[in-house]
Amino acid sequence: MRQPIIAGNWKMNGSRESIKALLDGIKAGMGDVKSAEVAVCVPSIYIADVAEQLKGTDIGFGGQNVSTEEKGAFTGEISTSMLLDFGCKYVLVGHSERRSLYGEDDAVVAAKFAVARKAGLIPVLCIGETLEERENGTTEAVVARQLDAVIDVDGIDAIADCIIAYEPVWAIGTGKTATPQQAQDVHAFIRSKLADKSKDVADKVRIQYGGSMNAGNAAELLSQPDIDGGLIGGASLVAEDFLTICKAAG
Ligand code: PGA
Repeated sequence: MRQPIIAGNWKMNGSRESIKALLDGIKAGMGDVKSAEVAVCVPSIYIADVAEQLKGTDIGFGGQNVSTEEKGAFTGEISTSMLLDFGCKYVLVGHSERRSLYGEDDAVVAAKFAVARKAGLIPVLCIGETLEERENGTTEAVVARQLDAVIDVDGIDAIADCIIAYEPVWAIGTGKTATPQQAQDVHAFIRSKLADKSKDVADKVRIQYGGSMNAGNAAELLSQPDIDGGLIGGASLVAEDFLTICKAAG
């Protein structure tokens, strides 16, 4: 059995004050979350605050990006050791906003994945097709290419303890969610593709769905056999909505 995992992706949102209120709200409702793992991926400047506020809870936290470099003259970057220094467990890698707005291609994403994993962070590898790619019928080819880029660098076994987030780009922040069947189909494809290389890895790896998952649609998405959780943007900024999704996961 794969333990479901719900992770919030706060993106570039929040203030010290709003984050405190958000985490207070989430912490207060965690008693009703039975089996799901819960985490938040937060703006790096707030990681120290978040670490302090989540001390003694079961809520994990992580960064939204990481450098491939260990240290040195890389202005504006944050290293794996810095994330670990503050207790981060996870780091998002290859989010579609990083790919489309900051030019991260498959090779950069694969390098970040490898560096994060080797350092002991759990990379959340984000993959997914654009609307144009879906309409062209290339969804499977795109996610296969994005996955292969990582497997070619790091090997199939590297995937097992990591998290894959399938996030159709057209569903991110648009309010347009993939239907449970559309999402399940791609999740099943991802798992079968991994199974071609290793059945163990395919059975073990958790695959989250992301893209306008919210309090209203989470239960149905999460009931699909190959959907093991969610990566939540907008709805993770409202404690009650985020908790509803966490509870729907188990
Ligand atoms: P959304 O974002 O839930 O706001 O669509 C998801 C994501 O980008 O991870």
